[in-house]
Amino acid sequence: MLNFSYKTATKFFAEEELELIRSQAEAARTLIVEKTGAGSDFLGWLEHPETYDREEFQRILSASERIRSDYEVLLVIGIGGSYLGARAVIEALRNPYQTRVGADGKQAAEIIFAGYNLSTRAYLEILDYLKDKSFAINVISKSGTTTEPAVAFRVFKKELEARFGREEAKRRIFVTTDRERGALKTLADQEGYERFIVPDDIGGRYSVLSAVGLLPIAAAGIDIEDLMAGARAAMKCYAEGDVLDNPAAQYAMVRNILMRKGFSTEITVNYEPKLHFFAEWWKQLFGESEGKCQRGIFPAAVDNTSDLHSMGQYIQEGRRFLFETVLWVQSEQTDLVIEADEANLDGLNFLAGETLASVNKRAMQGTMLAHVDGGVPNLSVEIGALDAFALGELIYFYELACAYSAYLNAVNPFNQPGVEAYKKNMFALLGKPGYEEAREALEARLETI
Ligand code: PA5
Repeated sequence: MLNFSYKTATKFFAEEELELIRSQAEAARTLIVEKTGAGSDFLGWLEHPETYDREEFQRILSASERIRSDYEVLLVIGIGGSYLGARAVIEALRNPYQTRVGADGKQAAEIIFAGYNLSTRAYLEILDYLKDKSFAINVISKSGTTTEPAVAFRVFKKELEARFGREEAKRRIFVTTDRERGALKTLADQEGYERFIVPDDIGGRYSVLSAVGLLPIAAAGIDIEDLMAGARAAMKCYAEGDVLDNPAAQYAMVRNILMRKGFSTEITVNYEPKLHFFAEWWKQLFGESEGKCQRGIFPAAVDNTSDLHSMGQYIQEGRRFLFETVLWVQSEQTDLVIEADEANLDGLNFLAGETLASVNKRAMQGTMLAHVDGGVPNLSVEIGALDAFALGELIYFYELACAYSAYLNAVNPFNQPGVEAYKKNMFALLGKPGYEEAREALEARLETI
């Protein structure tokens, strides 16, 4: 089971401080469990690992089998919560050098992502890459109107139709969107694309365990039954008991105590490059959920040990507003042992006989102690293994912790009003009808820059 520890941060706060904010954490729990807090219409993820739609789940499995056997590439189009979760799990569990082999060792489609930027280079490179490959598309957008994926879908749908014909393209397009509303839903109905649902009561960044994440994850040969089982185990484990014994609540409480002391940036630290995108998913979850009303911890991430040679200096000795949470995979992999070298020019023969895993662990421990000495509180989240079950647990742990943390900080965990500001300006500058006045004002401001 996942283990959360704040032992290496106790130098920075007293245990009784947890007791002091206990009633606030209990109030947060009531808001979550009784669904009475701000944004409570979006608490569907809370019981989702138990209540998810089994019929749709079977359809996801069948579609993923078809994708694996019939196509070389699955192009997944989405942004934010409709993108990061799938990428996080796939990159964590699949061998990046075996693009056509699933995490289960059997044939799978290569999964590539689009629709999360507006870069012409990125588009052209993907079009070029796809030109001699048999591909399918999974377009994912809850609203169905988000600019980036909508533009990408226009471009890549056209390519798909040009390459395989409109009728065949219909078989190759899988749509994940709202049950009732939106442009994508309408289009899917008109064209007869296979359609999967983003549940009404689950927002984008909490949706990885719905069809949003499950279809691409299954197409990558990852066992989605195990993923759901891990989330279900976490759900049962965190449903009961005192907030002080609940790791998700504890994590939220400790990070809020640290924030109130001026530790305003949290860095998630991994020692496993395959977790890079998991940290990206975590950044979005916490950043978009907490960063509002001029409050919230800024979420950052580093990949160690590589970033010890870039960001390590700042973390050790820069301005003191940072705390770290080490995301550690417990299971020791003993397959790689460092051998003695006769010349020993690098002086590393003292490592002869050590596994690479133990060197990595010593690097983590040494770094943690050094950073604590440098004034950086360290927390740790440990998972038993890098597998689907453990990632299911971890996803649920972070989602619940995020809801606690946002409510502790008196903000709505489930909205993202600030995301609209850039969109309004972009639409105005692009001449969208109805934005004429705003356009004039923005152009005038740009002239002065
Ligand atoms: O968490 C969120 O709600 C957002 O990040 C959305 O997932 C993101 O903006 C994409 O939205 P949509 O799925 O409607 O295209």
